[in-house]
Amino acid sequence: MIDLCGVSKSYRLGEVVLAVLKGVSLHIDAGEFVAIMGSSGSGKSTLLNVIGCLDTVDEGSYRLDDIAIESASEDELAALRNRRLGFVFQSFNLIPRINALRNVELPMIYHRVAPDERQRRAYAALKNVGLEDRAAHSPAKLSGGQQQRVAIARALINAPDIIIADEPTGSLDSASGHDIMYLFAQLHQQGKTIVMVTHENEIAAYAQRVIYLRDGVVEKDERR
Ligand SMILES: Nc1ncnc2c1ncn2[C@@H]1O[C@H](COP(=O)(O)OP(=O)(O)OP(=O)(O)O)[C@@H](O)[C@H]1O
Ligand SMILES: [Mg+2]
Repeated sequence: MIDLCGVSKSYRLGEVVLAVLKGVSLHIDAGEFVAIMGSSGSGKSTLLNVIGCLDTVDEGSYRLDDIAIESASEDELAALRNRRLGFVFQSFNLIPRINALRNVELPMIYHRVAPDERQRRAYAALKNVGLEDRAAHSPAKLSGGQQQRVAIARALINAPDIIIADEPTGSLDSASGHDIMYLFAQLHQQGKTIVMVTHENEIAAYAQRVIYLRDGVVEKDERR
């Protein structure tokens, strides 16, 4: 499903070219739950952004099912991100001025879903993450773990089959982190493909496969 072949990417900072991914090849099947680990600066977020079609590669190819990402148009990429990919970030990225329900509704606005249908689905999504009684709360009035659950409800609202998560528990205490992983494990059981970056071994332990990046290359790829 996710097929990277000899992917390289560098950033140019003035005269200096910084090679971040140096020939990464990997295949992830539909329904896998994969953790990506590695030291800070090893290229984890860059790799995740490539997989999430948020960034393009300099060399090599990336195929998502039968779509060659490097030759897809910006519209095709936007449609893919909207329909197939759900994103969860360390910093939640909720909009502070609107309540939890409205935050979850947002992605549906781009799909022109009617307002009452939007509300009904957003409420159901909040219920799925155990937050139906917090729908009217603004993000600031929620705990970190609750904010991340709102972000997950939002990521799932267009029923993506792939979840892309960059350190989803990185801002949470250990108990909230495990609550979020419990949700991820449920999503995995429902058949979602999950690709998650984490620094923590006990969080990576929820995945069935751990890919270790070191200095822009895959150092180890372990299945459990
Ligand atoms: N937009 C950018 N422009 C220039 N350099 C960048 C950019 N994004 C990342 N880098 C550099 O690329 C390298 C890899 O960054 P990346 O964010 O992928 O690392 P990471 O493994 O996710 O690290 P961390 O664990 O700290 O999040 C770093 O040296 C970083 O400074
Ligand atoms: Mg990172």
